[in-house]
Amino acid sequence: MTAQLIDGNALSKQLRTEVATRAQALKAKGVTPGLAVVLVGDNQASQVYVRNKVKACEDAGLHSVLEKYEATMTEADLLARVEALNNDPSIHGILVQLPLPAHIDAQKVIEAISPAKDVDGFHIASAGALMTGMPGFWPCTPYGCMKMLESINYDLKGKHAVVIGRSNIVGKPMALMLLQKNATVTICHSGTKDLKAMTLQADVIVAAVGKRNVLTADMVKPGAVVLDVGMNRNDEGKLCGDVDFEGVKQVASHITPVPGGVGPMTITMLLVNTLEAAERASK
Ligand code: GUN
Repeated sequence: MTAQLIDGNALSKQLRTEVATRAQALKAKGVTPGLAVVLVGDNQASQVYVRNKVKACEDAGLHSVLEKYEATMTEADLLARVEALNNDPSIHGILVQLPLPAHIDAQKVIEAISPAKDVDGFHIASAGALMTGMPGFWPCTPYGCMKMLESINYDLKGKHAVVIGRSNIVGKPMALMLLQKNATVTICHSGTKDLKAMTLQADVIVAAVGKRNVLTADMVKPGAVVLDVGMNRNDEGKLCGDVDFEGVKQVASHITPVPGGVGPMTITMLLVNTLEAAERASK
């Protein structure tokens, strides 16, 4: 068997067109959805990420502001900027790019963002809303994974989903989203004794560790759906995920590639959340 690809670029294109249409409708009511992206310091990867986020906003007809600050910016100054953005009616979503310089308490900054504008879904209030099934903002990467499962009409009810990785921004929220759709969920991590024994039972596997070849073909049940959240470089410097794609695609029924899988979906869901924030604010 060769797995069917879940194409994150194609799905993103479709969802971003929907965002653009909804943005037009809001604009007709006098509201332009706006995202503020705050970058502190000169982390190279972060510079690329924020540029892509701002460009995606522009392409979808959203207003976006990129605020760039020196790495020496104080925590107090950053908190003051966040507060100003909380009070800016032209801004519906606020994203402070991580990582922040070591002298700034990232969690403190995230908690300073108004939950109504927390389009990253990193605020404790957003995490609590996800856990309890209340309205809020879902973190973009796992939210994108859920959209990918939806795109293949995958019914999670009663399925066994194994999430590899327990980060606050992917693994944990991913598990809660799968649970909300009535999957039986197992979270595996660096302390898991026999990862293969777990993954071999899985109908759905989400690999979100940040390490190459965490999941190989011998660890996958035939017909399983595999979502690869990893973003790594192989020995030749080529982008690759956490999954041994060439091997696993021979066993899985569906698989996401890297690049062109979960990656573009993360930015797409940021646009969706920003639009949603603007729609809620204009009600
Ligand atoms: N750094 C890497 N990924 C992300 C993300 O999704 N949001 C923010 N704010 N920072 C990041």
